[in-house]
Amino acid sequence: MNNQRVLMTAVGSYLPANVVTNEVLSSFVDTDDAWIRRRTGIAQRHLVAEGETTADLACNAAAKALANAGLTGDDIDIIIIATTTPDNTFPSTATKLQHMIEAKDAIAFDIQAVCAGFVYALDIADAMLQSGRGRRALVVGAESFSKLLDWEDRTTCVLFGDGAGAVVLELADDAGDWGICSSVLHSDGAYRDILYVDGGPSSNVSVGHVRMEGKEVFRHAVEKLASVMDEALSAANMQARDIDWLVPHQANVRIIDAMQKKMDLPSDRVVRTVEQHANTSAASIPLALSAAVDDGRIKNGDVLAMEAIGGGLVWGAALVKFGRPS
Ligand code: ACO
Repeated sequence: MNNQRVLMTAVGSYLPANVVTNEVLSSFVDTDDAWIRRRTGIAQRHLVAEGETTADLACNAAAKALANAGLTGDDIDIIIIATTTPDNTFPSTATKLQHMIEAKDAIAFDIQAVCAGFVYALDIADAMLQSGRGRRALVVGAESFSKLLDWEDRTTCVLFGDGAGAVVLELADDAGDWGICSSVLHSDGAYRDILYVDGGPSSNVSVGHVRMEGKEVFRHAVEKLASVMDEALSAANMQARDIDWLVPHQANVRIIDAMQKKMDLPSDRVVRTVEQHANTSAASIPLALSAAVDDGRIKNGDVLAMEAIGGGLVWGAALVKFGRPS
């Protein structure tokens, strides 16, 4: 029986060169290294340079993912960028990326689900490939999140960073149990006021700044991520013990630790990059995945559990058997 599945065959990532440690941040924000580390696990973040844009970050990450897959832009049918910080209100950053990587025959568009953007984009690409819209997709999470920060608000500005990560997805016949095993998404606009940006084209014609009720977001994150992970496991007929790696959204090490506990996973089976990257929103999962593939922890055939929650609220989880059958 033909078993068509969508494989995740390669990953690539890019972080801007400019590193800002907690100590440096403390020189212009009323905060300190000990508070940030204790409450969030963050030690530093990468920030875009003057003139460096989300499309530049996305292009660097996409070029690495394509090289790792042995492909070029010509091979790509669908490009989706998950971003909350596009270069322009329109056209999409994805069409800019399409031109940069010369993916002439691809369709390209952005999606906006803030920190859950990567799991949303993965689900959309999976569905499009399964329905015959192409054979290969590039899914990118890319953010210049620092552009949305109010540097006078210490309760938010210490939490975020910039970066990009990209994965190559390929439709495969007779793929057995490889590739995307399950994907579950949720939204609940009743909570839109606990995490939002106070600007936008149709409200006040401004870009705006991030506003957040941190404690409320924290509470929803732990509860909703645990529940959506249970749904994803059940949809794939799996148990938490079948997971080789938890590759979570990197918002706060305490949220990640809570998920590790709820799933009863050993600590060394959880990828943590929040200390070095901070919260890079839609880029955080592919950045973490890329780090663990590059250093040899994640190998071909490992089963990955990914989860994320963001403003909306929007949240989701996906299970993937990484790589391709050898
Ligand atoms: N430096 C020093 N002190 C600070 C800072 C700071 N950067 N920020 C807040 N404080 C102070 C507060 O003013 C407060 O002081 P007070 O007690 O004198 O009033 C004290 O620290 C405690 O503040 P709380 O807001 O109660 O701190 P909390 O323990 O809730 O931690 C945090 C705040 C880290 C934001 C936490 O609530 C959190 O991580 N929430 C999740 C939010 C998140 O991750 N959002 C990212 C986007 S959504 C996502 O990706 C999941």
